[in-house]
Amino acid sequence: MASVSDSRFGQKEASEQNFDFMFKILIIGNSSVGKTSFLFRYADDSFTPAFVSTVGIDFKVKTIYRNDKRIKLQIWDTAGQERYRTITTAYYRGAMGFILMYDITNEDSFNSVQDWSTQIKTYSWDNAQVLLVGNKCDMEQERVVISDRGKQLADQLGFEFFEASAKDNTNVKQTFERLVDVICDKMSDNLVSPDSSPSGLKPGPELSAQPQRSHKDCAC
Ligand code: GTP
Ligand code: MG
Repeated sequence: MASVSDSRFGQKEASEQNFDFMFKILIIGNSSVGKTSFLFRYADDSFTPAFVSTVGIDFKVKTIYRNDKRIKLQIWDTAGQERYRTITTAYYRGAMGFILMYDITNEDSFNSVQDWSTQIKTYSWDNAQVLLVGNKCDMEQERVVISDRGKQLADQLGFEFFEASAKDNTNVKQTFERLVDVICDKMSDNLVSPDSSPSGLKPGPELSAQPQRSHKDCAC
């Protein structure tokens, strides 16, 4: 017989399986820019100053309400180190959104943004939406990339731009919510014009604009 706590767990499980849409989102960028910290801040509201470099790829799930819809976010945190590139780019396919991150105190990480953008174009669906994020904006004293350069590059690449801090919890929630809104907007456009996926890269189930409900078999 199920105990009270088992049945509560069952209810929680069931509620987590109910959603209108599921979006797959990837966080990419050089090692140490703060991708893992950004995800932990958003999903668990936690931050640690210790640096434990991500090995390969990891993910967290968070369900939010947006525009009267229950949206399940499957957020993939990729390793920035070059040696994991083959593994991480394999996950680009089927992603509806990317957070491309650099560190405002690290010029190299900013100079790599163009390359990361090329990786997105090479490995992901054409309609994937991208937000450029300059993280660690709490470290004003150590800043080497001024805000205007971030904004300019984002404009040039056609991305929206935020400066944020996983440490201070600045613009973290806002970044994810904006990305979700941009994906939703794109999805409505596609309902009008369904032929917008590129040749060879058909959207997977997560890319479908069809509402998804009660995915008992979901891999996550
Ligand atoms: P890889 O997993 O190697 O790709 O790195 P990452 O991008 O996941 O970096 P991670 O989140 O592990 O953070 C690297 C270091 O930066 C850690 O010591 C964090 O505590 C620190 N850090 C992350 N975000 C911030 C921030 O917003 N402000 C400050 N001051 N430090 C941060
Ligand atoms: Mg990491």
